[in-house]
Amino acid sequence: MWEMVSTKVIYAAIPISVVVAIGLLRKWRSRGWAKCLSTTCLRGKTFIVTGANSGIGLETAKALVRRKARVILACRNVAKGKEAIAEIRKEQPNGGELIPMQLDLASFTSIENFVSIIKAGFYKIDCLINNAGVVIPLKDDVKTQEGFEIHLGVNHLGHFYLTNLLLDLLKRGSPSRVVIVSSTLHEKGKLDFSDLNLRKEIEKAKEGKTDARHNPGYSNSKLMNVYFMKSLADKLRGTGVDVNACCPGFCYTSLFRYSIRWYHYILMAPVFLLFMRSAQQGSETVVFCATEYNIEGQTGKFYRDCAEYQSKYPFDNDEEIKLWNVSDEMVKARKPL
Ligand SMILES: NC(=O)c1ccc[n+]([C@@H]2O[C@H](COP(=O)([O-])OP(=O)(O)OC[C@H]3O[C@@H](n4cnc5c(N)ncnc54)[C@H](OP(=O)(O)O)[C@@H]3O)[C@@H](O)[C@H]2O)c1
Repeated sequence: MWEMVSTKVIYAAIPISVVVAIGLLRKWRSRGWAKCLSTTCLRGKTFIVTGANSGIGLETAKALVRRKARVILACRNVAKGKEAIAEIRKEQPNGGELIPMQLDLASFTSIENFVSIIKAGFYKIDCLINNAGVVIPLKDDVKTQEGFEIHLGVNHLGHFYLTNLLLDLLKRGSPSRVVIVSSTLHEKGKLDFSDLNLRKEIEKAKEGKTDARHNPGYSNSKLMNVYFMKSLADKLRGTGVDVNACCPGFCYTSLFRYSIRWYHYILMAPVFLLFMRSAQQGSETVVFCATEYNIEGQTGKFYRDCAEYQSKYPFDNDEEIKLWNVSDEMVKARKPL
């Protein structure tokens, strides 16, 4: 009988020890993931967060509202925005103001409608956080309403257009900030100006001739985010509007809903458990860039783990200017060039 009991104890102890060991390893690993220590009261300040209904955007909105800010949740699906607000209110009944608004970055008309409502209701904006983003397999050939490749259209052009339309309100809010949520994956980006819409890559993907693990549409759009940040920071120098970009780190969110399947999480569990942050942990650097008083006046920088990050990408001034000009032309033409 004692033998049976001790066998049962051993069987129970093995999974418990594995869980405890993984928990301890994860805790050890997460020591390097920085936290935003700023607790500045943001009462009276207005923040816009795109894609605030889920993942890093939702956690960013929570952190801002905890500091008493007014947060406009700019969401593609406003019903999801209202659900997010209900969730935040449950956690923080006494936080700042929360406003759900419709914004589909895959439609210039939606962006224009959003901006005209903002302009009718607000005199100034203190911080715009360009957080929304998508990762969609290239073989699906998804386009925005104006026909732009989806990563180019949503992750870069939509935010490019939105930010430019809001510049007068941001200048009125000075000292104010634009935070662009990019990724260190921008280092894998490579821009071909003769084919920014990736027609060749999409055809190759449809024929199964590309590496499914690397999505050039996504990494290129994250590189465009950094180029946009640099150009805008230069253009706004001296206006009191700081423009910075950041990487939240590899986080468990719904971003990879079309590329990572449930069984990948099982197969890759040890890697994910050690390297994947929660959305809340990912939001720390975004909140840092948006609120940290000590970086006020610093512009044109890239942050990761609440500290400046030196990108390994060989940035090229000509490429930067070219991207701004082409983006501007595409917005004006309202179609791919
Ligand atoms: N997760 C990571 O590991 C990671 C790493 C580096 C950088 N990032 C960046 O972090 C940002 C946030 O991503 P996340 O990880 O939090 O993913 P997420 O949970 O999927 O959140 C993305 C948000 O963007 C919104 N969105 C998508 N298309 C939109 C459109 N056309 N118009 C307006 N909003 C749209 C989504 O709305 P719906 O809910 O309606 O789809 C969602 O609210 C992205 O810019 C991403 O590139 C993430």
